[in-house]
Amino acid sequence: MDAADISADLEHVLRTADQIDARVAELAALIDADYAGRRPVLVGVLNGAMIVMSDLCRAMHCHVEVDWMAVSSYGSGTRSSGVVRILKDLTVDVAGRDVLIVEDIIDTGLTLSYLVHNIATRGAASVRVATMFRKPEALNAPVEADYVGFDLPDEFVVGYGLDYAGRYRNLRDLATLAPHVYR
Ligand code: XMP
Ligand code: MG
Repeated sequence: MDAADISADLEHVLRTADQIDARVAELAALIDADYAGRRPVLVGVLNGAMIVMSDLCRAMHCHVEVDWMAVSSYGSGTRSSGVVRILKDLTVDVAGRDVLIVEDIIDTGLTLSYLVHNIATRGAASVRVATMFRKPEALNAPVEADYVGFDLPDEFVVGYGLDYAGRYRNLRDLATLAPHVYR
């Protein structure tokens, strides 16, 4: 397998790796300024947030702790239902802590809404959200992201941590898939 194998499956590159890197640096600067003098717990939502977490936390200069949750949304097909099962819970006790949830993408926002409430219930001092990508429907969601990398059209995207059937997470760009992949 060489690099041509993965790019042959793509239709449009919506954001290049360079554009994403530049935007991550901007978000990191905003977050650093907002959390100055504090030590937030960055909570990544597995598996999609693995790439943005590793880039974002290294672009930041304030002290952080990093932790992870894995959740699965019950629902039919690819739609979120908002009923969430925790597959991997936090290791850090977030009571009294400033928590920043780090997401790859927000679509309906139902998963995120569950997570924000769940973490708030544990007594976190504050709960904010950073997401690299946001789809149009997220604007109707019950929770808002505090830091957003890019707003996207309502298309299924892969790369930069996002997958289709487990693949394409390692693509550095963000892209749509060619129709032949779905057949
Ligand atoms: P909700 O709808 O609860 O779900 O905001 C967000 C989760 O849905 C997944 N998702 C995508 N995954 N390409 C993907 O690879 C997409 O275009 C896409 N849209 C939503 C993703 O897991 C996200 O955390
Ligand atoms: Mg996800």
